[in-house]
Amino acid sequence: MAHLRSLILLLSISLWSLPALSQFCESVNGYCDSENMLASSKILIKGGTVVNADHQEVADVYVEDGIIVAVRPNIKVPDGVRVLDATGRLVMPGGIDPHTHLAMEFMGTETIDNFFSGQAAALAGGTTMHIDFVIPVNGSLSKGYEAYVEKAKLSCMDYGFHMAITKWDDIVPKEMETMVEKGINSFKFFMAYKGSLMISDELLLEGLKKCKSLGALAMVHAENGDAVFEGQKRMIQLGITGPEGHALSRPPVLEAEATARAIRLAAFVNAPLYVVHVMSSDAMEEIARAQKSGQNVIGEPVVSGLVLDDSVLWNPDFITAAKFVMSPPIRAAGHGKALQAALSTGILKLVGTDHCTFNSKQKSLGIDDFRKIPNGVNGIEERMHLVWDTMVESGQISATDYVRVTSTECAKLFNIYPRKGAIRVGSDADIIIFNPNSTFHISAHSHHSRSDTNVYEGRSGKGKVEVTISGGRIVWENEELNVVPGSGNYVSMPPFNYLYHGIDKADQNYLASLKAPVNRIKQSL
Ligand code: URP
Ligand code: ZN
Ligand code: ZN
Repeated sequence: MAHLRSLILLLSISLWSLPALSQFCESVNGYCDSENMLASSKILIKGGTVVNADHQEVADVYVEDGIIVAVRPNIKVPDGVRVLDATGRLVMPGGIDPHTHLAMEFMGTETIDNFFSGQAAALAGGTTMHIDFVIPVNGSLSKGYEAYVEKAKLSCMDYGFHMAITKWDDIVPKEMETMVEKGINSFKFFMAYKGSLMISDELLLEGLKKCKSLGALAMVHAENGDAVFEGQKRMIQLGITGPEGHALSRPPVLEAEATARAIRLAAFVNAPLYVVHVMSSDAMEEIARAQKSGQNVIGEPVVSGLVLDDSVLWNPDFITAAKFVMSPPIRAAGHGKALQAALSTGILKLVGTDHCTFNSKQKSLGIDDFRKIPNGVNGIEERMHLVWDTMVESGQISATDYVRVTSTECAKLFNIYPRKGAIRVGSDADIIIFNPNSTFHISAHSHHSRSDTNVYEGRSGKGKVEVTISGGRIVWENEELNVVPGSGNYVSMPPFNYLYHGIDKADQNYLASLKAPVNRIKQSL
């Protein structure tokens, strides 16, 4: 086992970008060994302010063997316990990123961050769990699942899976049942990417019904893929081949249309719906309207949509512009502010990243045609800092709200609360120590992703994750990572989350409201 681990280490190191290596704690090959990691299985975090989604208080937190065993003031511990002084700091649940694509094969290439580099980056930024999208292989869920089980063997933190549905036949719904047994409780339907991942309305309806019967959460990438295809042709005919063509070919109206369509189809079958990467105020308003009418629709903004604007796509340097290409596109200034406001009022519920990173060479695949630029941006390492700086420092949300949108809501939606998303006795010891008075700086020169670019290059702001504890191990401290590939665990997520409470009653009321079939007496004419 130790031999296997060193092999994986070597493999990972050879894949790692050089600037990141210097950030790891000094030991064999620049990483710490597993014995060193076990040394910190008993940890006392002293004197910090413990922040949960519903409450904050000054308390100590005591961790043993990966679990939080006490949360109260003045905990006394014997010698030999590692004590971390958290005076003046916030002690919060580690972030959970609901939306990532590690080692994803997409648009003729594969995302540059694998399950090790992406997770190491996450841990350096205070995220201790993520949920990645399994992509079926030729439509087969089981083959896709097997492929991701292999990819995830490099993991150094906890992770779960969503599963994309890309075709429909007699086998797929049966495989969905198997996936739920394996701990996948959410399925994503791409309404865009015509010719590859895109599904039809007919498939979406079948999928929504099946998700409902399984108690799984249906997720949509909401853009009208046929209209996007048309928009792309229009741009090429106009001679617009650069990254700005990406934004121009898929305007907010196409995101709003698909969002509204998915919402109405979900209402038609009375199934909960989760809209991923909400990028425009237009789409957000469709979600708000549905919520006002009582429908269970969850909207997920991503960090890029909250803090960036599309002016970057007009940059004369191709790579500088192409690194911002993602779908739906980063929108004009104003959309981000509207999404922030919706997050602060609860219309949008939790923040993801859609971490889907390609380096400059990969982005260059689209140098002559924006349709070939691999879609995706980074964010897994930056999310916790940027959400704090943008939302809490600006006074839009409180520290408790911050915990809710970066961790707790995700844990609740994917049915793993309070094991995750809380600093509570019995919860997993996934904890960050956060200094609100320190500052963070973002640069591709110092980040832990394997990409050579960063869409947040040069940004700094208030607040800093000083320590990350993952499964009871100190994995980030003094700007050094202490991570071992293969040490992360798969988190099985059961179906029937809180959105399913009461759905049977609503269905019964619907049936009663039909007043049908009418019992007619057949008379002979
Ligand atoms: O541009 C993006 N969003 N890339 C990742 C795939 C997806 O649509 O989520
Ligand atoms: Zn998507
Ligand atoms: Zn995505």
